[in-house]
Amino acid sequence: MGIEIRDLKKSFNGKEVLKGLNLDIHDAEVLTVIGGSGQGKSVLFKHMLGIFKPDSGRIVIDGVDISKLSDDELLKVQSKFGMLFQSAALFDSLNVYENVAFGPRHLTDMSERAIRKRVAEVLDMVSMPGSETFAVASLSGGMKKRVALARALATSPKYLLYDEPTTGLDPLLAESINDLILALNRQTKISAVVVTHDMHSAFKVSDRIAFLHDGLIKEIGTVDEIKKTKLESLKNFINAGNSV
Ligand SMILES: Nc1ncnc2c1ncn2[C@@H]1O[C@H](COP(=O)(O)OP(=O)(O)OP(=O)(O)O)[C@@H](O)[C@H]1O
Ligand SMILES: [Mg+2]
Repeated sequence: MGIEIRDLKKSFNGKEVLKGLNLDIHDAEVLTVIGGSGQGKSVLFKHMLGIFKPDSGRIVIDGVDISKLSDDELLKVQSKFGMLFQSAALFDSLNVYENVAFGPRHLTDMSERAIRKRVAEVLDMVSMPGSETFAVASLSGGMKKRVALARALATSPKYLLYDEPTTGLDPLLAESINDLILALNRQTKISAVVVTHDMHSAFKVSDRIAFLHDGLIKEIGTVDEIKKTKLESLKNFINAGNSV
């Protein structure tokens, strides 16, 4: 059924960051949110996860308005989400298996045997089969990103949020993460919401792109529609990204 965000307003210390934002995320699509630093992309993510409460407006996830839920009910909705943080945020002292098994152990009642099978499955999906016993500290940046993605997938989320998945990676590695986002979306029915400054990545992976500027989604459309935008602030954003 997807995510519906309606008239979302949020201020911090008297400064209005989100000013009545509207956005829909459809089932099984890859939607990318682009926008400059400090425009509120991470704040928007945190509202979808129920970490921030709106000052006003609604966030409806699969028909449920999450701003009105008790903590227990919220936890149930949160278990529909997987999150790939910008820094991989793995437990460095644990091996790959323990990292990926973390979600299933703490958020599901899967048996250890079922968890072992699931961990093998998701490591396969991110092209790291058989890496269960590897020490996290010994992995390269790209491998860490893959393990973090496997960890996000382990609980079979319906929605996957990616915060800057390619920022800071070399071009080849960035490309392999783009390929992975696309492949995962074809294999599963996961809806992906990607936040990025990387226009190449946005154009490659997205079904639709939304431009967050001055507290609102100023433009939303397919890759072709966004490339042909008439909106000056969006044109500038795209051109600045392409020249980097
Ligand atoms: N917990 C908080 N308390 C006070 N202000 C906050 C808080 N979280 C975010 N903000 C403010 O909200 C605004 C938007 O921040 P946000 O982190 O969402 O930007 P962003 O678009 O994700 O930027 P970047 O691309 O740099 O990650 C900023 O002005 C920030 O200072
Ligand atoms: Mg951010």
